[in-house]
Amino acid sequence: MKTIFSGIQPSGTLTIGNYLGAMKHFVGLQEENDCYFCIVNQHAITVPQEKKTLKENTRSLAALYIASGIDPDRSTLFVQSEVPAHAQLGWMLQCVAYIGELERMTQFKDKSEGKEAVSAGLLTYPPLMAADILLYSTDIVPVGEDQKQHIELTRDLAERFNKRYNNIFKIPEAQIPKVGARIMSLQNPLKKMSKSDENIKGFISMLDTEKQIIKKIKSAQTDSDNSIKYDKENKPGISNLLSIYSLCSNESIESIEQKYSGKGYGEFKTDLAEVVVNTLRPIQEKYFELIDSEKLDDILDHGAEKASETANKMLRKAERAMGLQRK
Ligand code: TYM
Repeated sequence: MKTIFSGIQPSGTLTIGNYLGAMKHFVGLQEENDCYFCIVNQHAITVPQEKKTLKENTRSLAALYIASGIDPDRSTLFVQSEVPAHAQLGWMLQCVAYIGELERMTQFKDKSEGKEAVSAGLLTYPPLMAADILLYSTDIVPVGEDQKQHIELTRDLAERFNKRYNNIFKIPEAQIPKVGARIMSLQNPLKKMSKSDENIKGFISMLDTEKQIIKKIKSAQTDSDNSIKYDKENKPGISNLLSIYSLCSNESIESIEQKYSGKGYGEFKTDLAEVVVNTLRPIQEKYFELIDSEKLDDILDHGAEKASETANKMLRKAERAMGLQRK
């Protein structure tokens, strides 16, 4: 049995990129592993958030986790700020991290580019993420491609801490899916699909209606040669749509290419919309049953309690290793 940890920011409604790149893979891992899934609200505040929206998004993300198949009886589902050990170890790891290596993170560069006021938290985001992972002696971190660099930094920080103080942290590994690790924007297939995209036509949210999904897929950018072939370099738009189709239908890309050989983009897009709608429908139904129930709060309360037990033990070890405990 391995320990699995992953987190998602409650910074907007999840996109099918989040689902296909990360969440979908969490579900299968629950059966044989000890899994922790976190709603990382302290990461979300590295950019300004509206109080009411952040609260709503936190609940909404919890409901989406469960609706997608996370079983709270099997896995520990919790909110980051409700387990203070994350911020506490996060601070200690900030003191182990170097400014230079944090400045080199591509997510920091992307999010701070062209902005006048950038929070210090945006720069020190990765040590908090490292704390999330290291507190649970995590073996595997299932994530999309964009988080790879953060996990590499987590490994570096853990190794540096182990060497400098005491060998207490397990070195985690990223698990990145072969297909769908980077779902691209529907409007610009050279850019990652993101829940914070200003152009809402660029992403499909997990709570979009059938009508919205059909409209967005119809207007997705493709090319002019009208052949349904996977070729990421020359045909990024259609390749992205093929990945989405494949992940939602569990069919291989080759078999989808064969099915649509000689057919045009119109027919393919109509069918793709149906496949996406069918994937999201059962999740949405479950989501709307859950979102206003008290059960959701009970699950999160219990999750935070369970996570705290493990996290506090590791925090104490780290404090002892650094000389932060008086006795
Ligand atoms: P976040 O909230 O941006 O994204 C959550 C997960 O979704 C994946 N993802 C994608 N996968 C494929 N295609 C896309 N277009 C796409 N967009 C997002 C992300 O890779 C991620 O797996 N820093 C993290 C949250 C975090 C975390 C952690 C993750 C905090 N602590 C500890 C793992 C372990 C983030 O911002 O993810």
